[in-house]
Amino acid sequence: MSPLILRRLRDKFWPEPLPPVKSFEGQTVLVTGATAGLGLAAALHFATLGASVVITSRSLPQGNGVKDEVEKRAGIVGQGKIHVIELDLSRYSSCLAFVDRLKEATATRRGLDVAVLNAGLINAEYVQSPEGWEETIQVNTLSTTLLGLLLLQLMRKRRPRASRKPHLVFVTSRDHIDPDIRDWARWATDDGILRHCSDRQNWPSHQIEPNYANSKLLLTYAVEEICKKAVEPDGRVGVIVNTVCPGLVFTSLGRAIAKGSTLMQLAVPLHASVLGKSADYGARFYVTAARTSEDEHWLKRNTKGKYIQSLFGEEEYRILAFPNLKSDTALKVKALVWNEIITEMKRAVPVLEQLEGA
Ligand SMILES: NC(=O)c1ccc[n+]([C@@H]2O[C@H](COP(=O)([O-])OP(=O)(O)OC[C@H]3O[C@@H](n4cnc5c(N)ncnc54)[C@H](OP(=O)(O)O)[C@@H]3O)[C@@H](O)[C@H]2O)c1
Repeated sequence: MSPLILRRLRDKFWPEPLPPVKSFEGQTVLVTGATAGLGLAAALHFATLGASVVITSRSLPQGNGVKDEVEKRAGIVGQGKIHVIELDLSRYSSCLAFVDRLKEATATRRGLDVAVLNAGLINAEYVQSPEGWEETIQVNTLSTTLLGLLLLQLMRKRRPRASRKPHLVFVTSRDHIDPDIRDWARWATDDGILRHCSDRQNWPSHQIEPNYANSKLLLTYAVEEICKKAVEPDGRVGVIVNTVCPGLVFTSLGRAIAKGSTLMQLAVPLHASVLGKSADYGARFYVTAARTSEDEHWLKRNTKGKYIQSLFGEEEYRILAFPNLKSDTALKVKALVWNEIITEMKRAVPVLEQLEGA
């Protein structure tokens, strides 16, 4: 049996430990995409550990249902500790409206302590977002990056008496090591890497999860830049930034693929249910990521820093990730990707220009 399968089975039965009760007492934690799967499980963990939790949903009635469920299961009914804000990552305008509402919701507290950017999707068919990008690229990469940049600004402004450093956590996936980036520099000079990945004609329909791995690698590149921005001019880390992969988790993430054929309808849930861990166990990695130290900030000492995951040993991951993260090609492609992403962000959201360091 392969080491990957063995590790998946280990994680399915031996969970990541949770910190002591009340570890997040007095803190405000944001979890995006909390209506289902890992986001819902994470909201429940943080609430049980004492946090006030802001959850997001594309639909307010659905979000309010989740709020009631989390309050009940965490035993905090009537305490006003769970808040729902609407967020649809397929539109930039929704991201901006969301951040305004978040500012209002956290104004009476000391600000946001932890943000877990979890919302994401896999599309089996090509879907174009209202912004004109393929939807996986829009949601998993572009809007998540925009939210990350806006939240970084917000978290930096936390009141000085806050003793604990804020945490910005991006949910990526082990799949970021999969894309073959050797053609990406050429795509950049043709119509752009983002455009190439977003073009209907290039939709990789032969793949089981078309564009998902690309979207998570693009996000990983963007997070490296956000990490740099999280370091203050005096060299201190202002906001601790990490990426996290929860491993294979049995959720509804693969529902779009399962629709594809009868075989997939059987294979996708079977694979995830046999090898995948529960959402409860998967979301524990988010809790771990929300408690990393300043030394574990992603680019600290210019190492790969802390990518929270359990599927690979450190050296194994270093070797597997080298082609896409550290090789000469990767360094070139990374810079090209960031240039495209930040150009798009500033085009779509001119206010970013005014924000310090954006
Ligand atoms: N499951 C795994 O094995 C696995 C492995 C590695 C990484 N991940 C990552 O973990 C994260 C959560 O996945 P999951 O497995 O919990 O999937 P899930 O059960 O499908 O939940 C996804 C969440 O994202 C939200 N979402 C989807 N599109 C959105 C949009 N346009 N705007 C705002 N929210 C949106 C969904 O909201 P609605 O209810 O409105 O659809 C839902 O709350 C994803 O980023 C995924 O890539 C998962």
